[in-house]
Amino acid sequence: MTGKRAVAQLLQHLQALGVSHIPRVTPVARLQAASANPAPPRPARSTTARSATARSATAQQQTPAARQDQTSQRTRLSTAAAGRDQGLTVPSALPEVAALIQQSPSSRDERKQALCALQGIVAACSRCEQLASRRTQTVFGVGNPEAKIMFLGEAPGREEDEQGEPFVGPAGQLLNKIIAATKLRREDLYICNILRCRPPGNRNPLPQEAANCREFLQAQIDLVRPEYIVCWGGVAAHNLLNVQTPVSRMRQQFFEYGGARVLVTYHPSFLLRNADAKKLVWEDMQYFMQHLGTQDD
Ligand code: URA
Repeated sequence: MTGKRAVAQLLQHLQALGVSHIPRVTPVARLQAASANPAPPRPARSTTARSATARSATAQQQTPAARQDQTSQRTRLSTAAAGRDQGLTVPSALPEVAALIQQSPSSRDERKQALCALQGIVAACSRCEQLASRRTQTVFGVGNPEAKIMFLGEAPGREEDEQGEPFVGPAGQLLNKIIAATKLRREDLYICNILRCRPPGNRNPLPQEAANCREFLQAQIDLVRPEYIVCWGGVAAHNLLNVQTPVSRMRQQFFEYGGARVLVTYHPSFLLRNADAKKLVWEDMQYFMQHLGTQDD
């Protein structure tokens, strides 16, 4: 039996015994600030998913894909449990999504194909009745299927709904300028949102909508396997990390989510309304670039 299957069976067994929540060792562990303490050497992409269990002798014999799968399973369980704790209805996981993840696509082409298949599944989603009935189309995600860095926004706006791509409206134009001002290249990135449908009037996503869409976000994270996730704005950060801390207190440090390092900064739409905050985002990008500069390629 492969390590991956053994872990999946163990989790099923625990669920059958009524265990709905397996606490993570560090749910939102603050990692050392790169500037104060250089981060440890970057582990290989697929071995960033570390936990107490993964560090055990048995886990060391697992393949990187099995270890990643284990982290992903644990993340799914704790996210679902958090949703239920908040009184949300956590939709049943779609077997076709699970099947895509279980294939553990690793090459760029394999990941691209899996993302494409996932995009098709998302396009047929009607979990959020109001959003599904009003959308022009779903807005899945765009970019390098094996990007080291994922940009996570809130939800599509009017232009995104029309064009089917995230961040193509005014906030997206500003995001492009921010990308251009850093040493990042578009091809280093994968860009997606908490929601894949536009909320009416660009209101914030409702908690139930975010819970409905979480399976798809998690699957995108599992397929791309970014080392870094940049949360643009509080909605992205709060939903991803299940915290309510203001962005002002989350900036300039790394959080951990399922093996990725998470950086939080202000949303470009906020900058369009508050030009003074541009310098704060620039500081955050410099912090990020300095950190990336200390890491091996
Ligand atoms: N704002 C977001 O958060 N995401 C988009 O895709 C567009 C605007």
